[in-house]
Amino acid sequence: MSSVSLKNLTKAFGPVKAVDDVSVVIEEGEFFSLLGPSGCGKSTTLRMIAGFEEVTSGAIELDGQDVSGLPPEARGIGFVFQNYAIFPHMNVFENIAFGLRLRKFSESDIRTKVAAALEQVGMTGLETRMQSEMSGGQQQRVALARVLVTEPKILLLDEPLSALDKNLREEMKYWIKDLQSNLGITTIYVTHDQGEALTMSDRIAVMNEGTIAQVGEPREIYEHPGGIFVAEFIGESSLLKGKISAVSDGHCRFEVGGQILEAESQPGLSSGSEAVMVLRPERVLIADTEHSGDWNGGPASVKSTTYQGPTIRTLLDFEGQEIVCESANRHDAPQVEPGQKVFVAWPKDASWLLTQD
Ligand SMILES: Nc1ncnc2c1ncn2[C@@H]1O[C@H](COP(=O)(O)OP(=O)(O)OP(=O)(O)O)[C@@H](O)[C@H]1O
Ligand SMILES: [Mg+2]
Repeated sequence: MSSVSLKNLTKAFGPVKAVDDVSVVIEEGEFFSLLGPSGCGKSTTLRMIAGFEEVTSGAIELDGQDVSGLPPEARGIGFVFQNYAIFPHMNVFENIAFGLRLRKFSESDIRTKVAAALEQVGMTGLETRMQSEMSGGQQQRVALARVLVTEPKILLLDEPLSALDKNLREEMKYWIKDLQSNLGITTIYVTHDQGEALTMSDRIAVMNEGTIAQVGEPREIYEHPGGIFVAEFIGESSLLKGKISAVSDGHCRFEVGGQILEAESQPGLSSGSEAVMVLRPERVLIADTEHSGDWNGGPASVKSTTYQGPTIRTLLDFEGQEIVCESANRHDAPQVEPGQKVFVAWPKDASWLLTQD
């Protein structure tokens, strides 16, 4: 187990800064995800940590030691790629034994270590299978075993589930998370799938155009996004524009059209600021009567409804702005039609104010 510290890490490809002054400390034993849209610099960051890509400037420290100049094999890092990096001409046993043979382990040590790695990934008994005789999920388990058998201090995973179908991806994400917490191995996981990052991570760094937009625990990132980019990238949100008319004790009075709402805000907003209220569709209710007390909201009209199976999505007009409501498809789900006048409500503590830029 080790900690990883990135200090002002930068990678330029010609004029393009793929990674731009990234600083973050990943703690020992942590499951840390780099999440962001395609091209934001996730893989480049991971490849620099592994040593596959040279650093343009900045430093990478493992347990306080700068490793930026070390070759990959001297860093004690295991790397699992998106596409199953297993050799098609070798069976499972030989694939896993490969790294041990390079390191000149004895045959009996190799047998013991391969057996232990196969057990870790739940593949005992499949030693003689070839790549073509395994499912995608099994191949990815072998790819992990190949890496774990070398007892890396840090595990780097670059979109390891993206080649799998949806059901298998769901299953594997819990499996990888369990494996990681059982082993306690410091893990950096790259994904553009926010569901994966939210479910698996201790902390997430949301990346945008080579920089880190926000680092935090999943709940913090989802419920208190640090900016509009994060709010829109993680989950769906409605963004209501308005003006802060009073602030006391961190609570703001926020005016949207003729309605007065209340919410907490990110630091730095003051009375008179133009701001945006972020609300999540699953926290929004449609009601026949107005809610008060701990609720924000007011009169609204229904623009459209969409049946989605487990949920019903309703688009509402509130003071000339759109609010999305997603309600569970239960017996008590609201039955509304386009054009209908209703009341919309959402908890004050599920309301979060951000600056407008
Ligand atoms: N070897 C390279 N030469 C030139 N540009 C590169 C190279 N590798 C990456 N880039 C560029 O650097 C930026 C970041 O790429 P990177 O692969 O790190 O993104 P990513 O976040 O992993 O995206 P994805 O989700 O699509 O895998 C992109 O603009 C990409 O085109
Ligand atoms: Mg990538």
